[in-house]
Amino acid sequence: MSSTLLEVRGIVKRFPGVLALDGVNFDLREGEVHTLLGENGAGKTTLMNIIFGLYRADEGEILFKGKRVHIRSPYHALQLGIGMVQQHFTLVPSFTVAENIALGTRDTPSRVAAKIRGISEEYGLEVDPHAKVWQLSVGERQRVEIIKLLYAGARVVILDEPTAVLTPQETEALFKAVRKMTSRGTGVIFISHKLNEVMEISSRVTVLRKGKVIGTLERGEFDQNKLARMMVGREVVMEIEREKARPGELVIKVEDVHARSDKGHIALNGISLEIRAGEILGIAGVAGNGQRELAEVITGLRRVESGKIEFLGKDLTNTSVIDRILAGIAYIPQDRKGIALSPNLSVAENLFLRRKEKKVWFNKREIFGHARRYIEEYKIKTPSPATAVKYLSGGNMQKVVIAREFSLDPRLIIAVHPTRGLDVASMEFVYRSLIKARDKGVAILLLAGELYEIFNLSDRVGVIYEGKIVGYTTPDPTPENIEKIGLMMAGVAV
Ligand SMILES: Nc1ncnc2c1ncn2[C@@H]1O[C@H](COP(=O)(O)OP(=O)(O)OP(=O)(O)O)[C@@H](O)[C@H]1O
Ligand SMILES: [Mg+2]
Repeated sequence: MSSTLLEVRGIVKRFPGVLALDGVNFDLREGEVHTLLGENGAGKTTLMNIIFGLYRADEGEILFKGKRVHIRSPYHALQLGIGMVQQHFTLVPSFTVAENIALGTRDTPSRVAAKIRGISEEYGLEVDPHAKVWQLSVGERQRVEIIKLLYAGARVVILDEPTAVLTPQETEALFKAVRKMTSRGTGVIFISHKLNEVMEISSRVTVLRKGKVIGTLERGEFDQNKLARMMVGREVVMEIEREKARPGELVIKVEDVHARSDKGHIALNGISLEIRAGEILGIAGVAGNGQRELAEVITGLRRVESGKIEFLGKDLTNTSVIDRILAGIAYIPQDRKGIALSPNLSVAENLFLRRKEKKVWFNKREIFGHARRYIEEYKIKTPSPATAVKYLSGGNMQKVVIAREFSLDPRLIIAVHPTRGLDVASMEFVYRSLIKARDKGVAILLLAGELYEIFNLSDRVGVIYEGKIVGYTTPDPTPENIEKIGLMMAGVAV
């Protein structure tokens, strides 16, 4: 029996209007991956923030290596040996990797760089110590965060939804590093909504529901269905039944479009596609092959260099974002905190953004009435419509975006990773909502990283590679079809 690194007992945490944690017990052993699972807003991040010294518990105690501790700050937590990679990263963008890692230590720059190289090799976490953080991809930033913890000698490593932003390949690399950590006796607390990952990596799983522990299971005692049931308290249908699509008029036509990425490279290299009313076109592809740019040229956020975009027969190429909203294009972007939401505005105001009525003034009653309806329909967990969006859990922020975009009565929905960060019940809800919109005649462009999501929703599947659609196939999850898609994703003609 390995010894206990960390134990929390009877943790209670209240926020205005919410009991976020209600007497939680949880412990972490040396060399294990203990997964924390629960619906959006269940209290996972809050519990981790308490262990990491960001919040103080209202009641309860924390024991580290058997001794009671009062963790005053993240800095203090890290001194004790507790580190956390937060759901939203916290590096200083204008500093280099090495500068970020050395913050708060007394090491000389050359020693820092040497140590980083050592850790990076040992754990297979590749980074360039001299790169500036703003230049790095999310996957790279995450590696820097992890190295920072290992550099500081963390024995407890908390990973809050690390894989939500990773490609499957990056996830594999992360899991390798995690296994390395546990083989050295480090304990890892892992949070994810992806049950297949939870099955793969966890030694134990604790399920939280509405701030309470439902149970802790040892490896061998759990499977995906059981975990889903424990999380939401009912059976969850992961495969949505749907009728065959009945495509209507042509809604969007993208013709031979070329566009550049932020870094100035060719990102779209003569892409063409068509979507009709009442059908979902799913686009599969390895991240970085033009998915983001495709969404952005259609929504008006990125300039088209050549080619044409027609919407309901009208040329919309390089018109403004507003024009496209007015025309009926809704957008669920990948980066909800960046462009989709205004964090300091209330939930009600965020739900009201992007409306197309020509009226200039709205009164509070209208805005709140509208908000209450959508908060209920989409089961958005918030103490009140007046709460600032930044206080919502990650998944509930995503629901605000989805509710708002559906409320616009669009003709076309561009959905990029629409269920990223959502728990299984909310995922089911979003799937049903997309199918319902389709059946009402909305055209949908789905850009998703997970193949099962593409299979679950799409009527046709296109594969994007190096800024072009290289082929189409059906959404059948047969081994042959998966192989065909895999080959096309790798740029092999089939
Ligand atoms: N700083 C805060 N102020 C007010 N309420 C908060 C704050 N932080 C969290 N909450 C509330 O506490 C509850 C638990 O949120 P938490 O972020 O812990 O959920 P979670 O389990 O991590 O969810 P997700 O899977 O969506 O990330 C939510 O109702 C949330 O709105
Ligand atoms: Mg969270």
